[in-house]
Amino acid sequence: MSVTREDILKALSRVVDPGQGKDLVAADMVRAPVFENGTARFILEVDPARGREMGPVLKAAEAAVGALPGVTKVQGVLTAHGPAAPAQPAARGPAGVPPPPPGGAPNLKIGRHPQPQASKKIPGVDKIIAVGSGKGGVGKSTVSANLAVALARAGKRVGLLDADIHGPSQARMLGLSERPRSDGETIIPLQAHGLTAMSIGLMLPEDEAVIWRGPMLMGALQQMMNQVRWGELDVLVVDLPPGTGDVALSLCQKAEVTGAIIVSTPQDVALLDAKKAVAMFRKLETPILGLVENMSVFVCPHCGQPSHIFGHDGAKAEAQRLGLPFLGEIPLHLDIRVSGDEGAPIVARDPDGPQAQAFHALAAKLIDGGLA
Ligand SMILES: Nc1ncnc2c1ncn2[C@@H]1O[C@H](COP(=O)(O)OP(=O)(O)OP(=O)(O)O)[C@@H](O)[C@H]1O
Ligand SMILES: [Mg+2]
Repeated sequence: MSVTREDILKALSRVVDPGQGKDLVAADMVRAPVFENGTARFILEVDPARGREMGPVLKAAEAAVGALPGVTKVQGVLTAHGPAAPAQPAARGPAGVPPPPPGGAPNLKIGRHPQPQASKKIPGVDKIIAVGSGKGGVGKSTVSANLAVALARAGKRVGLLDADIHGPSQARMLGLSERPRSDGETIIPLQAHGLTAMSIGLMLPEDEAVIWRGPMLMGALQQMMNQVRWGELDVLVVDLPPGTGDVALSLCQKAEVTGAIIVSTPQDVALLDAKKAVAMFRKLETPILGLVENMSVFVCPHCGQPSHIFGHDGAKAEAQRLGLPFLGEIPLHLDIRVSGDEGAPIVARDPDGPQAQAFHALAAKLIDGGLA
């Protein structure tokens, strides 16, 4: 039996926080309700000063959600939102990510997820560009990495945050394997190809990645935005997971995103999903900077003949229909795939080569528009 996000919210709206005299939904405490394979998960964001007294409320919330038909397991997490601060001490260990609940038991630990509530700026970061798509595998990570390197080569101070919980790929694309260190206060990001980089993937033991799904990772996303020592950045590029899920939602709600770039391949099915991403960002009131058509044209390395394997101009036409800027076409080329797989985005490996040009053009468009 499938349980929806609304079902979980409805159950939580029947639980009252005695401290506020309001139900948990009305008190705006519920974050990231999800249901997957019989397990319902949610986060309750609480005032850190009230952490201790919230244990029974969490228990009641879990009981209410656990009573929903179809729910076999419940994982509720309390997270504390803190006051605005430049960069907060890591909660536990270098990553500062709370551990997964043993055997699915309720996690009563208060994670420190300092989130400036008044200003949604990440300290030191001027602009945030989110790269998203409706469909998986269309090239968000490739575009994010190459765009970030192109912006850095244009003289910008650039960070790259891999926020793809289910399939983080920037570590591989940037050739990073080292675990980020902590100075006891903050998480120190890694450096690669002129970028300051951080990936959820680098913070998770590889074989445990699956356990780390769900709300706890939303907390981790918040920590990556606020506990990582990003330094002074002109722009932070955020590589989102595919679809219109909780990560995009959390990012846009928690941080002041300058704008989103939507990546699509030219064919109808990808465009259909791109439209869903557009609708999501519009709903979140996140400005959409435009659409990028990836895997646009394939030039045969043997005969030089161009082929439009996934069709052509679909994203351009869709951008027009949606009233959005069209930001450019990225060719489908073996070198782009190989360089990404080998840990050096094509713009870093061959910055003057033909395949890098589309990314330079995209970066120039954003800089000209004052967006990066
Ligand atoms: N323009 C391109 N030319 C050749 N290969 C490409 C191009 N863009 C992406 N690829 C390849 O396609 C695969 C998927 O790309 P990528 O990982 O960037 O997509 P994604 O949208 O981030 O996927 P996911 O939804 O899984 O996060 C990768 O192997 C990548 O190297
Ligand atoms: Mg990706």
